[in-house]
Amino acid sequence: MNWKPKKRYPIAGALICVAGFTALANPNATEPEPIADVLCLRKMALDLTYRGPTDAEVADLESGTLSLEQLADSYMATPEFEQVVFDWYRSQFPPTELSKEIDGLDVEEPSRIAQHIVLEDMDYRLLLTADFTIDAAGAEVPATNGPTAGIISTKHYMSAFSGSYRRNWAGHFLKEWTPIVLQAVTLPDDDDTDLSPDSLMTNPNCSGCHASEIYGIDYLAPFALCYDDDGNYQSDCAEAEAKFLTKDGAGIPALGAIVADSNEFMATSVNFFFKKLFGRSMAIEEQDFYLDRVAEFRDSGYKAKTLVKSIVTSKQYCAR
Ligand code: HEC
Repeated sequence: MNWKPKKRYPIAGALICVAGFTALANPNATEPEPIADVLCLRKMALDLTYRGPTDAEVADLESGTLSLEQLADSYMATPEFEQVVFDWYRSQFPPTELSKEIDGLDVEEPSRIAQHIVLEDMDYRLLLTADFTIDAAGAEVPATNGPTAGIISTKHYMSAFSGSYRRNWAGHFLKEWTPIVLQAVTLPDDDDTDLSPDSLMTNPNCSGCHASEIYGIDYLAPFALCYDDDGNYQSDCAEAEAKFLTKDGAGIPALGAIVADSNEFMATSVNFFFKKLFGRSMAIEEQDFYLDRVAEFRDSGYKAKTLVKSIVTSKQYCAR
């Protein structure tokens, strides 16, 4: 293994960490009040195109010539929607303190891949499994950074977070693609725990998070050990055995395949679009709404536009 601990960011001390899962509860949730279709159209137009509806669109809705569904389709065919989608992912995959330091890094590559998959109505799981990338001109081209797995094999994704033994990368991966959040807290500087993976995986104070078969940091991190700190794949590196969501594998494409077919990815995807369109996380009371969206998304073959349309034409969206 030619991977070495990062020199630029030494660990200040061992960490002690507390577990938690993102809460969906919204204590202030009240029964939503329906709004008129024209108001809902305004909300939808602003969300999908950054502008209000035209007079002609309002007239078409009011006369019954076009339905909210048809207007949603037409908004999703505009150049403005292309920008909206790009911006959604640009804020999801921003440059980080680490990646900002890398000269010439293409920080928009993950956003272009995601935008393409959404706009072309491709299977959304390609985010984690695509064998192509999208060049600056928007064309599908072969990726060149080692084995390809959509966004997660890009140099930007692989350099945005790393940490010792790629544990920070793993902690971030959990937050990005699953609803599992583990919080790390700094231990005193004079703590002398052996911090190697073997030690943390057998230390009972640490193994709960570091060696869990579902989300263990030191089982997940080895999927990414063949990338250097600048996100470059090291072709002479032997992939290590790793495990995530109880499934074994080695290398980033194996991880992408495990996550893409998981309930965790489904939850994260539906929540991603919900948050973009509602401006908040889903409330625990919205479980039925969530399950309906999951069923539709799955039945559509993971088409993001179908999911977006189903959200913006729902009675929950057309409410305040
Ligand atoms: C509740 C879960 C949890 C427990 C328990 C836990 N950790 Fe962690 N640990 C994490 C997570 C999550 C990360 C990844 C950090 C991140 O998200 O950036 C991590 C990362 C680390 C890192 C790498 C930090 C770096 O900057 O590279 C060290 C070292 C570490 N833990 C030590 C320990 C030690 C020692 C123990 C036991 C005394 C322990 N951890 C117990 C969740 C946990």
